[in-house]
Amino acid sequence: MHPPYAPIVDALLERRMNGGAALDGRDVCYRTKARRAMGLRGPPEILLPDAMRAPDVSPSSAEPKLERREPDRERPILDPRNGDAEDDVSSPKQKSLLAIAGSLLAEISLTKLLLAWIASILLPAAILGLAPLIVTAWVGGVFSRVLELYGYGAALVLLAIVAAGWFGWRPLFRVAEANFWALNALGVQPGYALCREAIRHLAERAFPTRSGAELARMRARSCAGAGILLAIIAALVASVAWPTTRWIGSTADLAVPHLLILPTLANAIVVMSAYLAAASLVWGFADASMDQPLDLQGFDAAPSDGRVWRVAHLSDIHIVGERYGFRIESGRGGPRGNERVRRVMARLEAEHAARPLDLILITGDMTDAGRSGEWAEFFDILAGHPDLAGRTLILPGNHDVNVVDRANPARLDLPFSPAKTLRKMRALSAIAAFGADRLRVMSLGAAEPGLTLAATLAPLRQAIEAFADQGGLRLSNRLARLWDEVFPLILPPAEDDGLGVAILNSNADTNFSFTNALGMIPVDQARKLMAAFDHYPEARWIVGLHHHLIEYPMPVAAFSERIGTALINGSWFQRVLKPYAERIVIMHGHRHVDWIGACGKLKIVSAPSPVMARQSAPTHFYVHALGPVPDGRLGLMIPERIDIAAAEEDG
Ligand SMILES: [Fe+2]
Repeated sequence: MHPPYAPIVDALLERRMNGGAALDGRDVCYRTKARRAMGLRGPPEILLPDAMRAPDVSPSSAEPKLERREPDRERPILDPRNGDAEDDVSSPKQKSLLAIAGSLLAEISLTKLLLAWIASILLPAAILGLAPLIVTAWVGGVFSRVLELYGYGAALVLLAIVAAGWFGWRPLFRVAEANFWALNALGVQPGYALCREAIRHLAERAFPTRSGAELARMRARSCAGAGILLAIIAALVASVAWPTTRWIGSTADLAVPHLLILPTLANAIVVMSAYLAAASLVWGFADASMDQPLDLQGFDAAPSDGRVWRVAHLSDIHIVGERYGFRIESGRGGPRGNERVRRVMARLEAEHAARPLDLILITGDMTDAGRSGEWAEFFDILAGHPDLAGRTLILPGNHDVNVVDRANPARLDLPFSPAKTLRKMRALSAIAAFGADRLRVMSLGAAEPGLTLAATLAPLRQAIEAFADQGGLRLSNRLARLWDEVFPLILPPAEDDGLGVAILNSNADTNFSFTNALGMIPVDQARKLMAAFDHYPEARWIVGLHHHLIEYPMPVAAFSERIGTALINGSWFQRVLKPYAERIVIMHGHRHVDWIGACGKLKIVSAPSPVMARQSAPTHFYVHALGPVPDGRLGLMIPERIDIAAAEEDG
């Protein structure tokens, strides 16, 4: 606020201080303090001598020289509020994948692509392939010296060497192992998922069926088929590369290191192919024998003790930073601005007033591209509903952390890019804003949830602020590790047999905008999650993540959607959760598909997007009722569907 008397105070102070002469620093300071003491804010009106003032050219004192006309805001040739072709540039709903891929090829930075390939594939492969040569060269050199010794002395020296090797080479083993898993995440598991989904897709096209059970059987057989096929292909690749491999190194190799290039790469190819051959067989048959997803057979009755947790499940609201902005995925075919999100929140407020909600869970993609302006809009909208905001938990979606450039799908991040970490820190800051005091961090190997997120982040606050302000690789690496370590976040149950919430980060660490939608659950997150379950043996759990575990028993979706958006290791994660299935409900978003079903006893709830829809189409979301039912299970009752009508301002 700028009270109307502020300029008068400024004028009085100015005159009192130096009678109109130029102010020095001390005077300005004095005036600022005096204004503050009087409760005035904002910049003081600057009083200039008459000679320095601009001439008054307002219409009352000057005749207009040019004809004037008010702009026609209602009917311009191009109404900017309706957007244009630029708003559809990355939208798979408005453009074919081929067209997007074409512009990707034209726009891509070859320098960055080369660097990304070197850092993500070539370097890990080189380290993995070189590791056996280095180890054998060292061992060979050392043992030849030991053989020159005799008796107890030789035994002792040998023991010391083994110990030195064990500790000294451990970092190399760690590096080789880390690079093995990096290649696994980048190539092996996605390769298996691609093959599995391609075979499933072709099978479903060839034998169309409407029954969910038949679909499940066909998908199970396709998994086994994909495993066998991939194992054969991987074995063939390994056998082709085998003659070029070399597993024993010597110190003489140091003289001709260039001769090691081919054997090193061949070693890496053979290691990864052999692993793929074995793993794809295991994964294929494990996927075939797992509980296939089916529509939920029936909802639970309300618990006799009346204990019910009401959970509003929102997802994929894709907030944009501009009042007339459209969304990446839907382009001009979808909603404009954030009016629909505001109406969703207003409906939720009314629902909460009628019957209080225990939790509002937003399972990712709060923002359309993870930009500061979008997060600011999200905060502004939630600020209008403080009671709801206090019950809200959010988790990261691919649009929050993995979209490199909303306007250009060809943009890519380098694997160590600070920009990627910056998006993660924005998301972490937002997660903390809603749940820092309630959510707890699990350390790997710990038996129970530890510090709150607030306490975990407190010592890092300055580092996060400095990184957001200045960037920098060192801070980026440190904070990227923090991001990896902080999940899953645990909201512990209020009572021993109460309801806990686990918040996961299911986003794969991708570098392309084009592959931003891929998901993956890291092994460490799964381990920590199980430790939390074990620590509260009677508790029930909502497990919130962004990605869907597995394809639903529905008629086939477009292949691009099946392969481009799936959780790569979803069936493995489903197996991890199986022992706890009866006391878990999975809640996720990402596909914008409304589906409630189960894999065996594991209930899965997929939230529709209450925002993303064709223009003028209504949307909806659900308020779920969960409660403790006999045998320690978590019951899921018939949800309440809340419809959001379309409105003119949506687009
Ligand atoms: Fe998503």
